[in-house]
Amino acid sequence: MVKGMPLIDIIAGARPNFVKIAPIISALKKQSRQGSLLSYRLVHTGQHYDQLMSGDFFAQLGIPEPDVNLEVGSGTQARQTGKIMLGYEKLLLNSRSDLCLVVGDVTSTMACAISAQKLRVPVAHVEAGIRSGDWSMPEEINRIVTDSITNWFFTTSESASENLHKAGVSWDRIFFVGNTMIDTLLLNQNRLSPPAFWKALGLNNEEYIVLTLHRPSNVDQYESFSKLLLSIGEQSRGLPVVFPAHPRTIKTLSQIGALPSNIFQVEPQPYLQFNYLLKHAKLVITDSGGITEEATVLKIPCITLRDSTERPETVTIGTNELIGSNPVALAPYLDRLFAGKWKKGLVPDKWDGKASERIVGQLSKLLCD
Ligand code: UD1
Repeated sequence: MVKGMPLIDIIAGARPNFVKIAPIISALKKQSRQGSLLSYRLVHTGQHYDQLMSGDFFAQLGIPEPDVNLEVGSGTQARQTGKIMLGYEKLLLNSRSDLCLVVGDVTSTMACAISAQKLRVPVAHVEAGIRSGDWSMPEEINRIVTDSITNWFFTTSESASENLHKAGVSWDRIFFVGNTMIDTLLLNQNRLSPPAFWKALGLNNEEYIVLTLHRPSNVDQYESFSKLLLSIGEQSRGLPVVFPAHPRTIKTLSQIGALPSNIFQVEPQPYLQFNYLLKHAKLVITDSGGITEEATVLKIPCITLRDSTERPETVTIGTNELIGSNPVALAPYLDRLFAGKWKKGLVPDKWDGKASERIVGQLSKLLCD
């Protein structure tokens, strides 16, 4: 128990983090109106910094202005990690908090957890315990390092809880609470709206495909990326493929030149427009983890262009199929889709819009009781 009003640092650095912290902040505010003593300070590391990757998400999801912005900007993995660690350490030395709450698996998650724990500020990790087993992904390193120095673990699935327990974490530190990204999705269902290009591209419900790719393994090599796009363009039966391209992807795309004529590259979309696109699509092809969860809840067929996933329930329970990065593998899945035989999918346990309330309730017990 912490004396007075425990101060929680909420850390957010990159696009998927913003979606995950929004409902946690709302739940904290709600509890505070009901007399809870918990207070928070929002720390933006600045890993994602521009309007499309950050600003629009704050505005649409009603996230308050950060109390602190570390403004680290772009850089190599080590440079970003170092800058975030230094910035957050300085903040804690000047003004200590009682808990560092990190979400997801981005560089900011790991860097802040390290700085906090070294100063003996306890760490809580939301979306703890998920594992792809693939150490070539920076996110997997971030997950392993973060979880090895976390005090309290909030998980999205029983299998994530099991992973932690197998690694030696005692059950009293693991809380299976559900998925805060899904809290945001369910909360915003009635606010989703079509992107500005909807009419210009002549899009109709269930008559287009959404494509998102940003993993270094898919987009950093010019030749393989180019082949992948060609294959997607050819195999999509003439349907428009809407491709909101991430900044990292745009760099390689600028070398590729013309895309297949039915692939339409658009800017990274704000939350409400992206999820409108997803909700009305025939199919999403992606290498994102978060989108496989959203597609599962929206029951949209999803193909993941990766060899592994840290979110196995999107495949075993949901609408996702993991097919690897070789475009040759696409054909049988697209045959199945166009034959109307895609699996129906169910929603995983506790992906019910209440994860953030459970997290805040638990934090209250841990810090105030
Ligand atoms: C990061 C996360 C990844 C997450 C993704 C979502 C890590 C290791 N990776 O990858 O898990 O799925 O965010 O977007 O943390 N850039 C901009 N504007 C911005 C931000 C970035 O132009 O606002 C550029 C950077 O200059 C860089 C590239 O995008 O060249 C990649 O950004 P970076 O933060 O390094 O990682 P992501 O690939 O976005």
